[in-house]
Amino acid sequence: MDYKKYIAEKLNVEGLSKDELYDLIALPPNTEMGDYALPCFKLAKLMRKSPVMIAEDLKNSILADESVVSEKVLSEVSAVNGYLNFKINKGDFVRSTLDRIFKEGDQYGSATEGVGKTICLDYSSINIAKPFHIGHLSTTVLGGALYRIFNFLGYKTVGINHLGDYGTQFGKLISAYKRWGDKDTIEKGGIRALNELYVKFHQEAEIHPEYDDEARAYFKKIEQGDEECQALFHWFKELTLKDVQRIYDMLDIRFDSYAGESFFADKMQPVVDELKEKGLLVESRGAQVVDLEEYGMAPCMILKSDGTSLYATRDMAAAQYRKDTYDFHKCLYVVAYQQNLHFKQFFKVLELMGKEWAKDLVHVAYGMVSLEEGTMSTRKGNVIFLEDVINKCIEKAYTIIDEKNPDLENKRDVAQKVGVGAVIFGALYNNKIKDIVFSYDKVLNFDGETSVYVQYTCARANSVLQKGGIVKEYEVPELSLEEIELVKGIATFPETVAMAAEKYEPSCISRFAVDVAQKFNKFYFNCKILAAEDEKTKNFRLALTNATLQALKNAFTLLGIGIPDKM
Ligand code: ARG
Repeated sequence: MDYKKYIAEKLNVEGLSKDELYDLIALPPNTEMGDYALPCFKLAKLMRKSPVMIAEDLKNSILADESVVSEKVLSEVSAVNGYLNFKINKGDFVRSTLDRIFKEGDQYGSATEGVGKTICLDYSSINIAKPFHIGHLSTTVLGGALYRIFNFLGYKTVGINHLGDYGTQFGKLISAYKRWGDKDTIEKGGIRALNELYVKFHQEAEIHPEYDDEARAYFKKIEQGDEECQALFHWFKELTLKDVQRIYDMLDIRFDSYAGESFFADKMQPVVDELKEKGLLVESRGAQVVDLEEYGMAPCMILKSDGTSLYATRDMAAAQYRKDTYDFHKCLYVVAYQQNLHFKQFFKVLELMGKEWAKDLVHVAYGMVSLEEGTMSTRKGNVIFLEDVINKCIEKAYTIIDEKNPDLENKRDVAQKVGVGAVIFGALYNNKIKDIVFSYDKVLNFDGETSVYVQYTCARANSVLQKGGIVKEYEVPELSLEEIELVKGIATFPETVAMAAEKYEPSCISRFAVDVAQKFNKFYFNCKILAAEDEKTKNFRLALTNATLQALKNAFTLLGIGIPDKM
């Protein structure tokens, strides 16, 4: 039961919708006061009364409501200092929460709101032959989490890796490979070897500008379908995808489509034609652009003066293709905020073209990730590969686990879950727009707001259940504050998932997990579970432990993080 919703339904405030009321209802900082509270000062202007009077009047009218009296959902309504406080009937609340969790199991928190609707998610979207570095962490894990979250809410999700596989850089790579490359070295070295070639090309082209002309010619050949150049290009692509697949496997990331920029090479002309037809293209220094001055933006370049297309042109063709192919309800682009302007521009152009679905395109922007150990510069070839960061985190996790619990079985397995989880959680804990400085010590802190803290809590819960039994049948005893707080925590999971989807913010779920783990630990240390004062209490506490574990598992599954049984 959604108690906030119940309260909103029962309250009547003229000029305020139920949804607005719902948003105003908060959790009071102090549980003694109530379980929910309506801060009436927020209504003072609207109702032209003092908060104290509003609280008093609302209290009287809600207590006069016969349905409120007979339903017994609320055990107390009080007006204190301009706050309208509600206490709910704890026994019923606890029972309905736990029973729902046991009934729904792995599906607890899921919903059907999305049934029949499709969400396209463009994430990770790597560049071929370029390092998969720490800067790709957020798009990859944010995208993966959103993919699972929307799925959980009933949507059909389409994960798209919009590969950066188009442009003169592939001509450069062919030129470099032919001049200095070696099949075996590239085959073995994968992305790293390809990137070295690319870096070398740039160094050499400074002394030999004619290499650049050669590279352009090779790119033209790829486009024209020259067999040798095409074969090399596909080989580079294959090597890159194979290399990156290792990381996707570790992070449990999947895609339904790898239609990247080159896929749209032959799908741009119709877009250009339509722009012309609608009179949106203007010439600017030889290039074809859409003027966006009226909207406070620089012009959106569609064709360069030599007639070649741009990143935006391909994105417009891709958007049209996705609409035609998937008929999406929403199409999300999980891309760093550095590209804000790009998305604003081409969304606007599509809108000006009269595509009513342009409003369903969403740029899910996020902040930068840097490593505490030092920043990186891609251009000079000194990059921090994401794979190295993950492996280092797994190694460090292993060392810690080995120290804490040398006799643990499957230490490697546990270290894998802890290490990978720490990298994912490190990127998903803060509001996504914030820049992150990644620190190994911080993400692996057993006592911090970390995944390993949550995992450790789960292992603790698991061990209690191993000893006491996996209980689903119980009676509700007299409840302690810790127990009520914990039940309240786990009860918010369904609304947390809904909010994570609405705000495109998986951090809602990470925070939920840390909050519940903290509440569980308070409960664990203050209430004896296995040595409870009587059987009824012990049984209930085991059931509560069981329900907590289920809620945490569901949360971590959505984030893509595994939970070891023992730690
Ligand atoms: N490959 C691009 C980059 O690394 C990201 C592509 C994002 N997706 C898109 N449809 N533009 O910057």
